[in-house]
Amino acid sequence: MFEIENFDLKLNTDFIGRNFIYVEEIDSTNTFLLDRRNGVNESGTVVLAEKQTKGRGRKDRVWYSSKEQNLTFSILLCKDYKLFNHLNLINFSASLAVANSIENLYQLRTELKWPNDVLINKKKTCGILLESSSQGNKIDRVVVGIGVNVNQSMFQGQFNFPPTSIRIELGREVEREKLLAEILNNFEFYLNKISSESNYITREWKEKCRMIGEKIYVKEGDVIKNGIFDDIDEEGFLLLRTKDGIEKITIGDVSIV
Ligand code: BTN
Repeated sequence: MFEIENFDLKLNTDFIGRNFIYVEEIDSTNTFLLDRRNGVNESGTVVLAEKQTKGRGRKDRVWYSSKEQNLTFSILLCKDYKLFNHLNLINFSASLAVANSIENLYQLRTELKWPNDVLINKKKTCGILLESSSQGNKIDRVVVGIGVNVNQSMFQGQFNFPPTSIRIELGREVEREKLLAEILNNFEFYLNKISSESNYITREWKEKCRMIGEKIYVKEGDVIKNGIFDDIDEEGFLLLRTKDGIEKITIGDVSIV
């Protein structure tokens, strides 16, 4: 059982998570917050679900997560038009927030995988799905969906990338309330940096991405591109060095050759 009072005591934000919705079961926290007919319009709203019946991952994949073991939640950002010009940096802020929270609370070394996975010991402990909706031709709603494998002790089935959890890596269960509060505190910190000092985010992100300089391939649908992970640009796109020069990659799954 998630203890909201305990979480609340540790939350130290101005707006992220101040409107907090806790549900036992839902199709997907992202689907819920994206749908404006649900009447939730307060920027910073967080929806946490103990179980998702249709948890979604990137590229129409399914996100599997055991009931009451992990953190599956989404954060709503509304009408922050300046911020919405930097969707990749919002993505990076979320992965940095999760990675730093895990390092600070449990002293586990984390690594970031482009665009936004958080790894421990080369295995995935967190995935992020950022989605937006527009009115007219303007994005006015962004939902940052975060799934962190926290206390799950076993993973069964087929995964695109080998999964792990904090519990598996640490050897003990951890308190989800404290971890969620820490993630939201850090996320707000990084979001504020996007407008004040955006290269702070890319700098920190690069420090935690250990694939830069490596030979990689990027897979998007049936297309596979090979090259060296040269860098990321100031907006968070991957720069792939191929025999024809530098190519900017906006989407895809990255693997080391
Ligand atoms: C990925 O790595 O493919 C992204 C996974 C994102 C999963 C989270 S769990 C909370 C939120 N609701 C969803 O349906 N998906 C995201």
